Amino acid sequence: MNEVLSALLERRSIRKFTNEEVKDGEVDAILQAGSFAPTARNTQGWYIMALLGMERIRALNAQVKEASKQPGFDRYRDFVGNDSYTINYENAPLFIIVGVNPEVSFFPIHDGTLVLANIMLAAHGLGLGSCWINQLGAIADEPGFRKYLTGLGFPPTHHLIGSVCVGRIDGEAPRAAPRKHGQISVLR
Ligand SMILES: Cc1cc2nc3c(=O)[nH]c(=O)nc-3n(C[C@H](O)[C@H](O)[C@H](O)COP(=O)(O)O)c2cc1C
Repeated sequence: MNEVLSALLERRSIRKFTNEEVKDGEVDAILQAGSFAPTARNTQGWYIMALLGMERIRALNAQVKEASKQPGFDRYRDFVGNDSYTINYENAPLFIIVGVNPEVSFFPIHDGTLVLANIMLAAHGLGLGSCWINQLGAIADEPGFRKYLTGLGFPPTHHLIGSVCVGRIDGEAPRAAPRKHGQISVLR
């Protein structure tokens, strides 16, 4: 089968990673693929921030958990799960956050989501695993967490659209769930 088509069918959300590093060339290729996603009217209003290394990711994880305990954000506590839950499923050594500037982009959520999709597919193409992590989007505007993100260099102007962890797959990738029927129609 065509390589692009098979990548689309075979990519899975991975939640078990080895602790091997992701090489610099792989990181660059993944980020470049993200930057080539289509955007409405080609505004390219995205910002992609990659965090490499366990120490950085553990610090981010601690901030995510802290933010979800704050008043008004405690409803996201369930997303964060128990203490053993981490935003990188423990071992993934690369964590990527995608934001979009709503002053620049006409459709921030659509544009940012396509960047994230390219990133996940590029990771798959390189034999790596990835998983979209939603918690950061939920607590992105909690003041303490925003301040932390800004300190890391994430532009304060940008909405946080989503994030993904990336790493080497531990074991077999899961199989795709069966596709739902009756949700495609073709008028020829
Ligand atoms: C918008 C969005 C948010 C998601 N958030 C999470 C998440 O926070 N944690 C997680 O483990 N998986 C998350 N996922 C992955 C989905 O659970 C996964 O894509 C779905 O179960 C289908 O599995 P597949 O990606 O292997 O085809 C998310 C996926 C999307 C598209």
